[in-house]
Formats: sequence, structure tokens, C-alpha cells
Amino acid sequence: MLTLPHFVSSEIDLRPLNTLALPGRAEFFAHITKMEQMDAIRKHPELAEQRRFILGGGSNLVLSGDFPGLILYMRLMGRECSGESAAHYYVSAAAGENWHEFVNWTLSIHRPGLENLSWIPGSVGAAPVQNIGAYGVEAGEFLSQVEAFDLESGKLCRFSAADCAFAYRDSLFKREGWHLSGRYAITRVVFCLPKRWRPRTGYAELAEELARRGADNPAPADIAGAVSALRRRKLPDMNVLPNSGSFFQNPLVSAELAGALASAHPSLPRYPQPDGRVKLAAAWLIENAGWKGRNLGAAGMYEKQALVLVNRGGATFKDVQNLTRAVREAVFARFGIHLEPEPVFL
Ligand code: EPU
Repeated sequence: MLTLPHFVSSEIDLRPLNTLALPGRAEFFAHITKMEQMDAIRKHPELAEQRRFILGGGSNLVLSGDFPGLILYMRLMGRECSGESAAHYYVSAAAGENWHEFVNWTLSIHRPGLENLSWIPGSVGAAPVQNIGAYGVEAGEFLSQVEAFDLESGKLCRFSAADCAFAYRDSLFKREGWHLSGRYAITRVVFCLPKRWRPRTGYAELAEELARRGADNPAPADIAGAVSALRRRKLPDMNVLPNSGSFFQNPLVSAELAGALASAHPSLPRYPQPDGRVKLAAAWLIENAGWKGRNLGAAGMYEKQALVLVNRGGATFKDVQNLTRAVREAVFARFGIHLEPEPVFL
């Protein structure tokens, strides 16, 4: 009979651990609060052989059913000021810390820079994986170092921001054989915040919200407050209407294609990128393909933000799959654009 370490359980219900509230069970489930536990897993005769998945806040996850393997539920805690250079402050947090609480903490100790990323659900350890971003800022811009435990060699590895190869909702950790396949478990993230703070208010909707609040010369807390208000207004509360945030990535297309589409649809939002491509708003494409506020089975596209797929109550993976397919087909039929899902499918 298999003897499990005290921090590993079997047959754990994953529904409360994914914000889309899809059903599924984990065959094995390790509650990781200490680094040594990962080494114990690596040396355990049977657990070491299991397929692995590293789970953070479960807010960017689509569960396809039972997971035949080991879930590492990353609950390493702690945050600290990690020194300074002439131009920067360094702050760090362990992977299990809640992202929004971490941002609030940095503001409370007068280390601004992350305020545009307020109110994003999920954990600190998940932030570099998909390079979380909002209101004109991406986490990768401020990242200095990622520490990760290699479950094959048992070594603690350090990756610089350049190693991480950050791009729009993408990083090294999403590649085959890295974090998502359970090889490297991110344990700690260090951020590097410029001492000379400047507000990042270029995102039109944020600028409008600040103007509405009379914040002409906004402080970091004003930006955090405005971002939180915008997110609360447009995005459904995960505890009330289960969802996983934006369900599709905003597509990057050639300038020619964007120009041709805009001639046919003048209200199409377009965001030119430094590499010459143009980012289009998936929410606009979905709304204009007729799917905003529409349901299929127990899943639907949210009425206040068409990019958010919501679980209307009791949705299964099949419901999510059917809706994903229907939305992608409708957008392709109307605009000739392929949408790619944003969350990780497990
Ligand atoms: N729009 C529509 N219909 C809608 C919603 C939006 O036409 O139902 C239009 C808006 O008018 C706007 C454009 O689409 O012109 C963009 O909308 P929004 O500003 O709400 O941002 P988004 O592109 O839909 C992205 C991120 C969000 C992030 C916001 C704010 C992605 C996949 N999503 O959404 O991130 O909060 O910008 O910066 O890049 C997430 O990743 O989970 C997430 C919520």
C-alpha cells in the first residue's frame, strides 16, 4: 500500500479550487507550504512518477475533468523588501501569496509601480507564467527575478527577466517542459520598482476614470482605486458568477488585415504594437459576432464584458467546450479571425 507524506491527500475535489467552478478531482494533492516538501515528492518512489500540475489561485484554469496525477497546490507564503540600488527598490513575495494583497502591501510600504495591476485575481507565482497585464502595464516589465524549484534535479533555479522571454500573455514558463508540465515550480518572484515613480495613465478608460474622480495629478493609491473600481464594474465577482477572467487573447494581426477590417467596420478598436502588428479587441469581435450576454448550455459570455466566459450554474467542461467552439466559429465566420483561448486547459 502507498504511504503518502502528511501533506499529500488523495481524491480531492477541485471545484472549489478553480474560479470557473468546473467539476473534477485530483488523484493526489500536495499542499505545499515548505520547499522541503517538493524535495520529498521528488524522492518519493510513487509520487515522483506521477504526472504533475502546479496550481496557484485557479483563476486562469479550465479543468477538463478528473486529473490522474499529482496537483502541487502552491501555498508558500512571505513577502519582503529585498534591497535597493541607486535607481530601484526590490520587493519580493513567495509564490502562494495573493497577487492583489501583494500589490496593496507594496503600496502600503511606499513602493509604487504595480498599482495598474490591482485587483487581478490569482497568486504571485502565477503572475510571470502568463505575464499578467492590465491598463497598459504588464508584470514582466517590473520583474527582476523568478526563483523556481526544479522537480527533476532538486535544484533551486533563478531566471532573470530576459530569461523569462515575456510577451503578451506569454513567457518561457508556458513552453513545453517548463512550469505547466510540472517540471519547474515557481517559488518566489522578485520585482524591481523604479524609485522615480511615474503614473501610467495612457489607457483611455483609466484616464477617463481618473478624470471623473478629479484626480488630475494622481498618486499611486488613486490609480489603484480607479483600476479596482473599473474591474469591479466590468468583471463578474468570481464568488458570485464563476469565471476565469478574459477567456480569449486579444488577437495580434498584420497592419494590412487590421486596416482592411477597419474599413469595413469603422468602430473596430485597434492597438498598434511596437513590432508593426496590430492588437484587436477580442471583446469587440465577440460582441459584434452576436455573442455578448448569450448562453449555450450552462455557460455564457458575460453581458458586461463579452470576453469573459461565465459559469451560469453547474456548467461542465463540455458546456465550456461547446461555447468556446461556437464563439470561435462565429468570430471566424464574420471577421476571418481565429481567437485563441487565454486560460490554461488541464
Ligand atoms: N469592448 C467591446 N465589448 C465588450 C467589452 C469591450 O466592444 O463587451 C471593447 C471596448 O470598448 C474596448 C475594447 O473592447 O474598446 C477593449 O476592452 P477592455 O478595455 O475591457 O479590455 P480587453 O482587451 O477586453 C484586456 C485584458 C484584461 C484587462 C483589460 C484592461 C486580455 C485578454 N484581457 O481586456 O485582462 O483587465 O484589458 O487592461 O488581454 C485577463 O487577462 O483575465 C483580463 C481581465
